[in-house]
Amino acid sequence: MLFNMKIEIVSRMRRVLRDIFSRLQDKVNDFFFSSQFSTFTQNLKTMQTRRDFLRKATVLGGAAGGVLMLDMIGMEAVHAAAAKVSHLTPTQAAQDEDFWFSIREAYSVSPAILNLNNGGVSPQPIVTQNALDRFVRIANEGPAYYMWRTLGDGRETIRTKLAELAGVSPEEIAINRNSSEALETIIYGLDMKAGDEVLTTTQDYPNMMNAWHQRVKRDGVVVNQVKIPVPPKSFDEIVQIFRAGMTPKTKIVHLCHMINLSGQILPVAAIADMAHEHGCEVICDAAHTFAHIDYKITDLHCDYFGTSLHKWLCAPFGTGMLWIKKEKIGKIWPLFGAPKDFNMEDIRKFEHLGTRSFPIELAIGTSIDFHNGIGAKRKEERLRFLTHYWAERVSAMPKVKMNTLLKPEMSCAIANFGIEGMEPGKIQEKLFADSKIYTTTINHDEIKGVRVTPHVYTSLKDLDYFVRAVEKIAKS
Ligand SMILES: Cc1ncc(COP(=O)(O)O)c(C=O)c1O
Repeated sequence: MLFNMKIEIVSRMRRVLRDIFSRLQDKVNDFFFSSQFSTFTQNLKTMQTRRDFLRKATVLGGAAGGVLMLDMIGMEAVHAAAAKVSHLTPTQAAQDEDFWFSIREAYSVSPAILNLNNGGVSPQPIVTQNALDRFVRIANEGPAYYMWRTLGDGRETIRTKLAELAGVSPEEIAINRNSSEALETIIYGLDMKAGDEVLTTTQDYPNMMNAWHQRVKRDGVVVNQVKIPVPPKSFDEIVQIFRAGMTPKTKIVHLCHMINLSGQILPVAAIADMAHEHGCEVICDAAHTFAHIDYKITDLHCDYFGTSLHKWLCAPFGTGMLWIKKEKIGKIWPLFGAPKDFNMEDIRKFEHLGTRSFPIELAIGTSIDFHNGIGAKRKEERLRFLTHYWAERVSAMPKVKMNTLLKPEMSCAIANFGIEGMEPGKIQEKLFADSKIYTTTINHDEIKGVRVTPHVYTSLKDLDYFVRAVEKIAKS
């Protein structure tokens, strides 16, 4: 009863503050990046961000109940906002700025920089940060007992939630630290002999290529790489390129679902079908698509799949996931040996890592709830809308060239642009030095430019500011 009253009071206060904040928003945004902005916005944000407000709620509610309230209210706000757009299609909801303003409020966005490198690693919503704090506090009350006996059990719930999100069985999901660990588990865990060939691309991720090159040195495995045109003409062209790269000795096809350099999506299912016709297995590097594009792992027709949960799912830093098709689990060697009587068909054999942070693993659950609260398809459409918003404006400028195709099936939140006659590093440097816009430089043999990745908390005003900054650089 008392608890419900607390929630009601805090919800009402929140609505009032949100109204005030909305009215002030335009004025704040005018100031936002001006020279006086820094002090002003910092003060304003300090007074009015959701986190600060909720911190006050904690004081009102008493420490323990308050911390719990923070999570519930954060989640409640997302569900309430989602209810207001439930009559819209995902594409329409993608343009409902009130909804996305509520999502922005759910993050602790820095007023000091404009972060457009969310592809590297994403921030956690405040509800996840709070859940993590809570699990860390519980663990610290008696780490050996609470971590191994209490929090450890909760990992099974997380496995089930991840499996539901991915559309597969929990018995096929291992929780680990990142895509690199997931994919290298497969690369080092496969039995291969000298002369066996792997087909991949020149645009695959360096960590995984390093692992394959170690197998080249150790075992005499052969790595063949095809080039994906930038931009490709069609999905069919990409499938044909992979087909042409196959030889009678190809045993494994290793490919990205989305290439990190350009944001190009690959037609994984069609390539996997072709590879299976040749008797090969397929490893999919989905570091950039899980909880970004709305799909299920089974849609990809691959055999092995790795992703990072600290990217688009916004789970705690250092969380990842490995999926292996059930019947293939038994034959993959774990990176860290499992006990000798352990069932080698059990996916948990990949989790004998020793002591690590169970709090970060448990807090994945909160990020899944938050992601589901937004709605997977709505999120995908918003991310695509944001990319189109900036990219269409920037690509209309003289000297600017997009390195990403904006067709909906070909890309989503990651896109890359260059400016004629200017080194990508110089553009990236100028964006930060002049405007405090954080992006990343891509200096690859086949793709040169600046990679831009907004996220669900990025506003259109942020992107207007970014577009103006690019215009200034392009004219200079
Ligand atoms: C395509 C791709 N694969 C794998 C990774 C590795 O991810 P992590 O550093 O989380 O292991 C990245 C990182 O950005 C990536 O872009």
